[in-house]
Amino acid sequence: MAERVVKCPQCNAPLAPGRFARSTVCGYCGTTVQIDPSAVSVARYRQALQEWEDPARHGYSQWWTVGTGHWAPGPLIARGEISDVYAAERARRPTERILMKVLRDPEHAPLLEHEWRMLVELQAAIGNEAPAFLTHLPQPVAHGTLRGGPYEGRQALLVRQTPGYLHTFEAVRRVHASGVDPRVSVWMWRRILETLAVLHRAGYVHGAVLPPHLLVQHGEHGVRLVGFSCADRVKGARLRAICTRYEDFYPASLLDSQRPTPMDDVRMSARCIISVLGGDPVRATLPRSVPGALATLLERAAVGEEGEGERDLAWTLRERVGEVSAAVYGHPGFHPLVMP
Ligand SMILES: Nc1ncnc2c1ncn2[C@@H]1O[C@H](COP(=O)(O)OP(=O)(O)O)[C@@H](O)[C@H]1O
Ligand SMILES: [Mg+2]
Repeated sequence: MAERVVKCPQCNAPLAPGRFARSTVCGYCGTTVQIDPSAVSVARYRQALQEWEDPARHGYSQWWTVGTGHWAPGPLIARGEISDVYAAERARRPTERILMKVLRDPEHAPLLEHEWRMLVELQAAIGNEAPAFLTHLPQPVAHGTLRGGPYEGRQALLVRQTPGYLHTFEAVRRVHASGVDPRVSVWMWRRILETLAVLHRAGYVHGAVLPPHLLVQHGEHGVRLVGFSCADRVKGARLRAICTRYEDFYPASLLDSQRPTPMDDVRMSARCIISVLGGDPVRATLPRSVPGALATLLERAAVGEEGEGERDLAWTLRERVGEVSAAVYGHPGFHPLVMP
């Protein structure tokens, strides 16, 4: 047990406070002294922390370590361009659910490193302007080299897991090959444009608004944007990589210039929506089932004719989508996406 001397900070005389006393009066100098019961010896504190951080003490039998944190691996949930993505939880109580991007090839370490820097920067940049929006972006938890487990030595990036965002636009397109209900596409597009507006206002571009980076909330009207390894500041940004599977979704001017702009993000968002509507994102054509005004807006946005020169492009377009939807469908209703 640690021992402490309880003495008057004013005159150094010994004090004898009652067991649960919050304060006592020094019998020598008359000073009222507040007793702080929370003081713990450093050694005891360190020992308690070490025990709390030890996964075995919480019943975990296997874990992967990044920095000082230990994580119990769950299932592989997706394979990205450069990483395999696992669900995991902090190997202690209370736990914390995360997703862990495990890099496949060390050659791509700069991309993962850049994504980490972007996510951290965005938390600061957007935290000042639109703090309520922070939870809509991937929240960085840790990054570094994996120790323990089968991927020892690989780079990993950990982000907080947000329950419910289950379906990528790729999966939506697979399930709804002939296209989702256009009313569903209205809220989907508006959610993406809201995210882009916040990013662009903070001075950043995403640079890879593509079907695998858009996640739809199950049974609700939410969409999240992930995959920030090509994001950058608007000024001077160079495209760090191209997702070759979706090369068609990039505006030709972007492939030429290699310098992503807010307009490119917006154009790519329109192509993603055209894709889930069962249309052709490259030729910017849509099935007849899509109401004319909405189809025109999408086609124009996909080729960069909508909102050209506009300062707050994404937000302006978001408002425009709302107006078109009101004209075609009347008041907004609840139309969650149906997925198996
Ligand atoms: N925050 C997230 N929430 C849910 N799923 C995610 C999240 N981040 C990534 N994923 C899933 O992992 C896949 C790959 O992620 P991504 O960040 O694009 O990796 P990579 O950089 O390797 O391409 C995504 O297509 C998505 O299915
Ligand atoms: Mg990706």
